[in-house]
Amino acid sequence: MTSLYTPVIALPWDKHRLIIFKTIENYLHHPCRIQRRSLYLTCLVFRENELQMKITKHKLVSFFTGLTVFLATGCTSETPVQETSAENVTSEPKTGEINLYSSRHYDTDNALYEDFTKKTGIKVNLIEGESDQLIERIKSEGANSPADVFIAVDAGRLWRAQEAGILQPVSSEKLKSAIPENLRSPEGYWVGLSKRARVIAYAQQRVNPNTLSTYEALAQPQWKDKLCVRSSENIYNQSLVAWMIEKDGVQETEKWLKGLVNNFARPPEGNDVSQLKDIAAGECDIALVNHYYVARLKQSSDPEDKKVASQIGVFFPNQKLDGTHVNINGAGVVAGAPHKEGAIAFLEYLATPEAQEIFANVNNEIPVISGMKPNQTVASFGNFKGSNVNVAAYGENNPAAVKLMDSNGWK
Ligand SMILES: [Fe+2]
Repeated sequence: MTSLYTPVIALPWDKHRLIIFKTIENYLHHPCRIQRRSLYLTCLVFRENELQMKITKHKLVSFFTGLTVFLATGCTSETPVQETSAENVTSEPKTGEINLYSSRHYDTDNALYEDFTKKTGIKVNLIEGESDQLIERIKSEGANSPADVFIAVDAGRLWRAQEAGILQPVSSEKLKSAIPENLRSPEGYWVGLSKRARVIAYAQQRVNPNTLSTYEALAQPQWKDKLCVRSSENIYNQSLVAWMIEKDGVQETEKWLKGLVNNFARPPEGNDVSQLKDIAAGECDIALVNHYYVARLKQSSDPEDKKVASQIGVFFPNQKLDGTHVNINGAGVVAGAPHKEGAIAFLEYLATPEAQEIFANVNNEIPVISGMKPNQTVASFGNFKGSNVNVAAYGENNPAAVKLMDSNGWK
């Protein structure tokens, strides 16, 4: 439990905080179940606010006063606790629901959850947040965590969750047979649920696609001042470099990075969509982006987006070699999940053709199960061969990738 309050205690400005949170820790041994549970959930809400730096001294004092009164009231009746409305979660091992911690921010995912509930009767309680924040939260919640399933985009993040010890290995024949081996954790900690290709986007007016071939070739002098990329802090690029390390080794990857950085049209900035807009604005001719951003612009109702998209071509690199770099959106069952069976059923559902179709149609992602095609917009980019490297390597090689990017000037 101590780690729940660590960020608070670490802040030097207020000794009150230390006293308050030490008190809370003592009260977590309160004899009344309702008190303990309410206190715990209240602390989670409080900590969320604290992490977002919304806590003032005034709020802290009010919180402590309310807490003291509440704890002094003696045991309340064993009725369900309602005061933590911000937490739509439960850690009671009931069947019929799961608590899903997701770092995907797509409203469209609700279609998946509703379809799962319709098919199984299991309700999905959704808790959204940034990936690292959710990992920290599950760690902090420890054995009391109500989390059943953790979802994140990028294998690097799933690997990070695995390393943090918040996931448990799952053995499911359905998942094994539906999802290709290189798109899931070798030990069963997480599985890929949809694919995303990191493609070369190019200015159709200025680049002949016949001059494009591989990621490696982007380091050649012909692309000097022509390439737009986003920051090396972005996990998508880190995973791309980790993939290069896996297949070409550190030395070759470093040589490639030097040439690549030398070809940057401007310092790395913005997100994937910014790179596409900069191509359209003439700032650069080529960029590294995930395929679905181009699809999203093409489908946009905004005329500006459509104009950008109309100028962009999509090229799948390394087709004559090892295939295009592919990443995943994936999920794992949380260690100590209160609803483990429901959690596994949810993952198995996400690997069915019905769910895969929703991933493909609604968010332009590429299905992981064989025989299923991407949607029309993505299909218009052409067929491609994806790399067979196990995506777990993106996590294992992440520290080396970050180090190489840093030391070779990819800001
Ligand atoms: Fe993305």
